[in-house]
Amino acid sequence: LRKEALAKIEQAKDMKEVQQVRISYLGKKGPITDILRGMKKLTSEERPIIGALANEVRETISKTIEKKWAELEQAAIQRKLAEESIDVTLPGRPIVVGNRHPLTRVIEEVEDLFIGLGYTVAEGPEVETDYYNFEALNIPKDHPARDMQDSFYITNDLLMRTQTSPVQARTMEKAKGKGPIKIICPGKTFRRDNDDATHSHQFMQIEGLVVDKNIRMSDLHGTLEFFAKTIFGHDREIRLRPSFFPFTEPSLEMDISCKICGGKGCNVCKGTGWIEILGAGMVHPNVLRMNGFDPEQYSGFAFGVGVERIAMLKYGIDDIRHFYTNDVRFLQQFFLRD
Ligand code: PHE
Repeated sequence: LRKEALAKIEQAKDMKEVQQVRISYLGKKGPITDILRGMKKLTSEERPIIGALANEVRETISKTIEKKWAELEQAAIQRKLAEESIDVTLPGRPIVVGNRHPLTRVIEEVEDLFIGLGYTVAEGPEVETDYYNFEALNIPKDHPARDMQDSFYITNDLLMRTQTSPVQARTMEKAKGKGPIKIICPGKTFRRDNDDATHSHQFMQIEGLVVDKNIRMSDLHGTLEFFAKTIFGHDREIRLRPSFFPFTEPSLEMDISCKICGGKGCNVCKGTGWIEILGAGMVHPNVLRMNGFDPEQYSGFAFGVGVERIAMLKYGIDDIRHFYTNDVRFLQQFFLRD
């Protein structure tokens, strides 16, 4: 019996089988229990011998089972460890993270630059009233910018803002005639253009406005030059050309020398070596007055930069549509530049 039981324990392949052996040999219906139960039928001489023997067999079986059980347990742990071990020599799985859109990067860079000059960042609505988008900026009713051809109207009086300049009017109005004002305002703008390599019906501008006592054209010049050289590098030239905007007088446009993409087939510079990146000027006295500032006491300058233009120049992008079609192959190129 002992031999038989020990052999079975030895053969048991898992804990379940060991458990079965235990039940069948040591359980209530097992042979050992039978023998011990049958003791009373034995003679008084046989009883101690058989009893001792049965107990010894039971002890041995139970000890062996315990040992086997421990062995199996240990083996199970080892197996689990082996299964769960990590092969540190395997190549890692790439972690795909997003990166900032090139337009966002440009805006953040320009914001940092102007915050460093003491400006604060302002915001205004993308759906704007005719009043702030045009009227308060000295844009008369018959101005071509008001044409349905150029603006997305929502109602007679509401439109998608065609420029970030309405934030100038809103900011001056809020200041209630007291300077200084020093803000920049990045944001989306909309015009009814047919999209091509250089036109997009949705685009972005960054508006700048400074109103204080004794603000002069030379302040504007210095600010624009500092901006251009910081963003594009000191080897870039700037060129200021006289221009016209209803809300500034005098008005100017700034070009920047264009070398990244000057050759044939280049959409950004069209081969001239210069590209216009912003409009600017001294805030028109009518605009100051209409928005609560006394032009005898205060003067100011304003500028409006095209964000896509900056990004195209900075990163050598030749088609404005890339910014809005969101092809990840395009967007991922900016990952490496972070
Ligand atoms: N709002 C003008 C535009 O969209 C740019 C500009 C801003 C010009 C501020 C002068 C002053 O073209």
